[in-house]
Amino acid sequence: MSPSTSAEDLGIDLADPVTLVRSDLDDVFRHLRREHPVFLHPGTATRPAFWVLSRYDDVLSVYKDAATFVSHRGNMLTSLLDGGDPAGGRLLAVTDGPRHTALRAKLLKSFAPRSLQRVADRVRRRADERVAAAVALGTCDFAAEVAEDIPMGTICDLLGVPPSDRAGLLRLSKQALSSDDADQTAEDAWLARNDILLYFAELAEIRRAEPRDDLISTLASIEVEGAVLTEDEIVLNCYGLLLAGDETSRLAMSGAVWTFARHPEQWTALKEGMAQLPTAVEELLRWTTPAMHVGRTAARDVEIGGRTIRAGDIVTAWNLSANRDEAAFTNPDVLDLTRSPNRHLTFGYGPHFCLGAYLARAEITAVVDALLRRVGEIEPVGDPEPVYSTFLRGYSGLNVRLGPAAGMAR
Ligand code: HEM
Repeated sequence: MSPSTSAEDLGIDLADPVTLVRSDLDDVFRHLRREHPVFLHPGTATRPAFWVLSRYDDVLSVYKDAATFVSHRGNMLTSLLDGGDPAGGRLLAVTDGPRHTALRAKLLKSFAPRSLQRVADRVRRRADERVAAAVALGTCDFAAEVAEDIPMGTICDLLGVPPSDRAGLLRLSKQALSSDDADQTAEDAWLARNDILLYFAELAEIRRAEPRDDLISTLASIEVEGAVLTEDEIVLNCYGLLLAGDETSRLAMSGAVWTFARHPEQWTALKEGMAQLPTAVEELLRWTTPAMHVGRTAARDVEIGGRTIRAGDIVTAWNLSANRDEAAFTNPDVLDLTRSPNRHLTFGYGPHFCLGAYLARAEITAVVDALLRRVGEIEPVGDPEPVYSTFLRGYSGLNVRLGPAAGMAR
């Protein structure tokens, strides 16, 4: 096809959330990798065109070259198409250059495995309790009854949100995101987001006066480039953690369970010790890829795959496709819980590599570990309910029957 190939010709619109729940999405990306690895996705009367990079090596080169492919205008297709992320330059993920490096360096300590031991212990306890309760029920909606509050509880532990405030924050967070609620209005979502920001502003004020060993206190006290963070920056970065770490991890957990339900032979083999748990978790992360793409803006003209991307163009790099690239993985469309090495791009790469990767891995490992100890058979009950998003992939509703493991009472 010629460079003028349109979205209609391919039969897809990657800016439409409905496209991304298509059952043949993997075929679409296989075709793009083979025929149009650097594809200019046409715009419409109301939105600009954008580049779609689908090969592993090209996606990696975008992640590595943060001077050319910048994040401050937004790192997701939706915000880039809407004219840019209003948190640009203030929220870590959408900040570039020395300020990003300096802010990230200050936050790294809070995300290091050593600092997270207490949080990780609670993750294991929480996962075990939730899985035990689900087994007792027999049939459950795994997304709502097990996965729902594990990541949120974890981020609240990390930030230092008092237990009494958590239920309210979870409710607001769901309203603010709304990817699985058809009745939710844009105004409800906006109001909920505002309430969350106000909540964090008040908590940051309290912690600034009386610091504790938590991330809000860190954000309220650190100096970046010679000055403390503004209230806006503190609040946006608190909220940013909810956005970055809640739904992604929930989708990965539910995705793992759905994967086991669809591949009972792999589940049985894992139970029989065929693969090490950390190796299996990496393959589940590759297989589920909850964050489908990252978005960037080209800061200068640059050539990739024989095509010229102009300064100012929107570039999307598809983790989803990179993780299934036959040039990077042997038998990429085969789930192989023993796969090693496994250089998936589920957490990105380079300067913006996911700050919560250790925590996310701890959460998914804790859930799979609890399943291995407590569950025998995992059977799907009906079809799962997908989330509708151009960025996230997975299920907001996932009914499964969890049979007790041999020797475990229901
Ligand atoms: C960045 C994915 C869990 C916090 C990223 C990026 C990806 C990603 C792809 C790179 C974004 C970019 O390059 O623009 C995921 C997935 C998760 C997960 C798939 C779960 C399975 C978490 C958790 C937290 C977190 C649990 C925190 C509690 C962050 C932050 C960044 C980030 C703060 C920005 C880092 C920076 O810009 O320097 N994540 N994430 N993530 N993630 Fe995660």
